[in-house]
Amino acid sequence: MPKLLLKNGTVIDPKSKKNDVLDILIDGCKIKAIGKNIKDKNSQIISAKGKIITPGLVDVHVHFREPGFEYKETIKTGSYAAAAGGFTTVVMEPNTSPPLDTPPRIARALEIAKNTGIINIYTKACISKGLRGNRITDVKTLVNSGAVAISDDGNPVAGKKLMHNALIESKKANSLVSPHCEESKFYRNKKKLASKEKKQSHYFTGTARFADKPYCSEADFIKRDIELAKKTSAKLHISHVSLAESVELIANAKNNGVNITAEAAPHHLLLTEKDEEKIGTNAKVNPPLRTQKDVDAVREGLINGTIDIIASDHAPHTIREKALIWEKAPFGLIGLETTLALVLTHLVKPGLLTMSQAIKKMSVLPAKIFRLKAGSLALGSKADIIIIDPKKKWTISSSKFYSKGRNCPFDEWEVQGKAVMTIVKGKIVMKDDEIIV
Ligand code: DOR
Ligand code: ZN
Repeated sequence: MPKLLLKNGTVIDPKSKKNDVLDILIDGCKIKAIGKNIKDKNSQIISAKGKIITPGLVDVHVHFREPGFEYKETIKTGSYAAAAGGFTTVVMEPNTSPPLDTPPRIARALEIAKNTGIINIYTKACISKGLRGNRITDVKTLVNSGAVAISDDGNPVAGKKLMHNALIESKKANSLVSPHCEESKFYRNKKKLASKEKKQSHYFTGTARFADKPYCSEADFIKRDIELAKKTSAKLHISHVSLAESVELIANAKNNGVNITAEAAPHHLLLTEKDEEKIGTNAKVNPPLRTQKDVDAVREGLINGTIDIIASDHAPHTIREKALIWEKAPFGLIGLETTLALVLTHLVKPGLLTMSQAIKKMSVLPAKIFRLKAGSLALGSKADIIIIDPKKKWTISSSKFYSKGRNCPFDEWEVQGKAVMTIVKGKIVMKDDEIIV
């Protein structure tokens, strides 16, 4: 592998608090030197003049659909989309088919990732066997097989006891639980069935509101999970926060010393339920789009640190699936190729976040929370680096995406800022929108 010398880029490294025009020398898969006027005859020179150099981005919430739904996305195409969007590390959700609920399934997914992916790929494992919400998986062996967290994403953990056990087991395994706190179709059907059979509910016993539409129990689940996290002192990471009420609950929990972190997705920071009609089924997502008041609160939470990080919840579905009527179309939208530009255009440019804060929330902190080797430009660390052109204006067009998904709610949005180079372990994997394998 040739040595790479990135010249004269504005290096933004939130960890070292660097913010200066510098050169970076990459030797093999590692960062060899950072400084002014680095000279090295035997390296390929890459001009980063007028550009920003940051640690590669980290997305801890992506659906790559393999195995089982390869027609929606594969680990390979998902990794291309990630590289195109400036992400050098991702954590996959386990709601594949079969779901990632046993050690061999985790091992197989990680093997496919290693053989076909072009970035660093980690995975979560299921909380419940078969994602059915009944019996807990063998958390310890899943974590030992490489899972970095547990989640039944797509479905809430309906059973309070199950969630309690998940927190206990994940704590024992020194891992974390990242629950999907919102009702789902599966969950509602189960609930209906349970009440039909007049069983005593062993499902969630909180104050969830079960109106047919819209899904609105997020805050109830979060409240319950905070209580359980307090009791167990386990590590809890709330996925895709979307309600003002949830932000308040998380802020209070943090003040009370609960071991809790949270993420927000770009669509919950930028779109409201009013956009659903205009955008159509590409805006159908779970948790759903909310009111302006909620969007404002989630933004405020992100800015004041209540919400630690940004994660895309990249969830590809086919054009055919999304062409169904609203009630029948699947939940989910894609985000890997738009997240950075949306954050730069709508949060950094107006001054809501500094560039360094944005990178912290998209790289340093996600790596820290999930304990991934990422998010650092320290000497000797793995050279996962991106070059961002902050001036580049472009129009979002999902037809050009590397993802197989076209379910992007931001099509035709004018944005500014793009990753123009993605380097993973010292190798250039994307340059000017081209994937290099
Ligand atoms: O909208 C969503 N889609 N929310 C989820 O939690 C799951 C995801 C999916 O798997 O499509
Ligand atoms: Zn998800």
